Amino acid sequence: MPVLRSVRDRFAREQPLKGIRIGACLHVTTETANLVQALIEGGAEVVLCAANPLSTQDGTAAALVERTGATVLAAHGESVESYRAHIEVVSSSAPQITMDDGADIAAAVHLAGAETLKRVLGGTEETNTGAMRLRAMESDGKLAFPVIAVNEARAADLFDTRYGTGQSTLDGIVRATHILLAGQVVVVIGFGRCGRGIALRARGAGARVVVCEVDPLRGLEAAMEGYEVLPSLAAAAIGDVFITATGSSRVLTGHHFEVMGDGAILANAGHFDVEIDLDAISSVASSHRTVRPLVEQYLRPDGTRLNLLAEGRLVNLAAAEGHPAAVMDLFFAAQALATEHLVRHASEMAPEVHGMPPEIDRHIAALELGALGVEIDTLTDDQVAYRHGWE
Ligand code: ADE
Repeated sequence: MPVLRSVRDRFAREQPLKGIRIGACLHVTTETANLVQALIEGGAEVVLCAANPLSTQDGTAAALVERTGATVLAAHGESVESYRAHIEVVSSSAPQITMDDGADIAAAVHLAGAETLKRVLGGTEETNTGAMRLRAMESDGKLAFPVIAVNEARAADLFDTRYGTGQSTLDGIVRATHILLAGQVVVVIGFGRCGRGIALRARGAGARVVVCEVDPLRGLEAAMEGYEVLPSLAAAAIGDVFITATGSSRVLTGHHFEVMGDGAILANAGHFDVEIDLDAISSVASSHRTVRPLVEQYLRPDGTRLNLLAEGRLVNLAAAEGHPAAVMDLFFAAQALATEHLVRHASEMAPEVHGMPPEIDRHIAALELGALGVEIDTLTDDQVAYRHGWE
């Protein structure tokens, strides 16, 4: 992760986070470990819990404690109660910066009361789902500190959602099922940045891709990209593999499960496990059994089967390893620089969800170009004058 490494080296020299306590809820992976190390070398104290019980790598959690002195509350497969208790520990550790993947710490410090809240300078958020949740808090007039939506950085978007989620979602499905994607009808529900990447990679693997949308512009874009666009109920009747990527809830319901064909595979790529209606899948089935690790097969009364992957949790992290390090490098460099920006400027920022400051975005892209050994041009003085003139 060369870009993050260069940020880390500077942080170690300049100590921009000296004495800052960061309360984080992230996927506990080797890539996250590199971020935590950079923050700690920059002078921060980090209390970290896991954003998802199935993505935690226990060895990584242990190594973080041993090598960096971070406090880590995470265990692979932990229960919902333990997850909630860990969020509570992080939010009551008096964080000055919240660092989220899904907005759970930001929400918890808002519920914890004025004492906890007044210590928070600002927060960073990594997912589209979390940014939506924070914007809902903002429009309710409840958001008490500025949050930078790191996923909205242009540099991160180039790599992260489109290519990272696209590849790792299919990786998770293939690792869990060992299916051949070529020739399958893959239904992608949601054509946002993640859905676009998933559709692109599924098409590249030889699948016939159907897209479902609620937004006319996105539906149109999908149609112009050459995908078949259908309402989800019509798609349910013809799909082999269903992938939700909406950030919304109950996207696949009992109506869909009733018409799906035998052997349909259901996977979720959204942050929370609410996109596939788990109660509804149990009620259309007469029994269920585990047929492979992370594959729960539901038998309908007529003997036909539906295969749910990773309990409906985000499949790229639950059944694979999430985005590769090359993707998380830019993303976590953005996360580290956004944290530094908040420490310096939070008091001048409104309590809103902010995009990534454009100068940081360009800086990250420049660092990545440097790491790739790619050189680009600079404008001449004449060109700068031409761009700024109107006469
Ligand atoms: N989010 C997506 N992929 C990830 C990874 N590999 N590590 C941490 N968070 C992630």
